[in-house]
Amino acid sequence: MSSTCLIIGASRGIGLELVTQYAADGWAVHATTRSVHQPGPLGEVAGAVTLHQMDVRSDADLAALQLALDRTPVDLLIHSAGVYRNTPREVIMAVNAEAPIRVAEALLDNVAASSQRKIALITSQLGARRGRTGSLGDYGDSKAALNDAFRLRAPGWAKRGIRAIVIHPGWVSTDMGGSSAPVSVSESAAGIRRLMGGLTTRMHGGFWTWDGREHEW
Ligand SMILES: NC(=O)c1ccc[n+]([C@@H]2O[C@H](COP(=O)([O-])OP(=O)(O)OC[C@H]3O[C@@H](n4cnc5c(N)ncnc54)[C@H](OP(=O)(O)O)[C@@H]3O)[C@@H](O)[C@H]2O)c1
Repeated sequence: MSSTCLIIGASRGIGLELVTQYAADGWAVHATTRSVHQPGPLGEVAGAVTLHQMDVRSDADLAALQLALDRTPVDLLIHSAGVYRNTPREVIMAVNAEAPIRVAEALLDNVAASSQRKIALITSQLGARRGRTGSLGDYGDSKAALNDAFRLRAPGWAKRGIRAIVIHPGWVSTDMGGSSAPVSVSESAAGIRRLMGGLTTRMHGGFWTWDGREHEW
């Protein structure tokens, strides 16, 4: 039987590329978008891809996703949705810091019921606090808050047999990263897949980079 993954925030960028690569590799892929009726390139991805409507700030969308998945085992959940600049602080905090934890916790039963039982929350190196002296603005605050919340929850998730990490995906050439970013979206997604494919119990609870290095908090 094929493995199943769920990619949160798959309309563009790293999320879309993860859907494309996992589907090409034969996975059953569940993917969320804020525009399920006009999915754009996400609707063109070849393979076993099921789309779900979700704004990650919406409790109703999350409840509908839980209902749609029912007891489907999810081997791998990746939360990629995120916002960067030119966005009100409360939206940045809701999308980047609160949603990944809320979504993961709402779907823990699905992950725990699978054979691989893995979760990746996409953070940023800008959320690392060690050695920082200045502010990195709302975005840095939001990813630091995500990292902090993740570290406190990881031990509880491990008790359910789940291995989870936060990942810095690189500075990636997407709408968010801009065209001068040094890492292509396909390289970043391939690195994330490699990292998650080799995820060990020792790595659980950690902060990792797309190219397989442990990151300081
Ligand atoms: N690119 C980089 O250099 C870089 C570096 C470090 C970390 N990251 C992190 O990597 C992740 C993916 O970034 P990216 O570069 O792929 O960004 P992107 O190309 O700007 O795509 C962002 C994705 O997040 C979705 N999204 C935004 N707000 C949402 C909401 N309220 N509900 C549901 N989905 C929402 C977008 O959906 P819509 O199309 O509906 O807006 C889109 O699919 C983010 O968490 C980001 O912080 C990126």
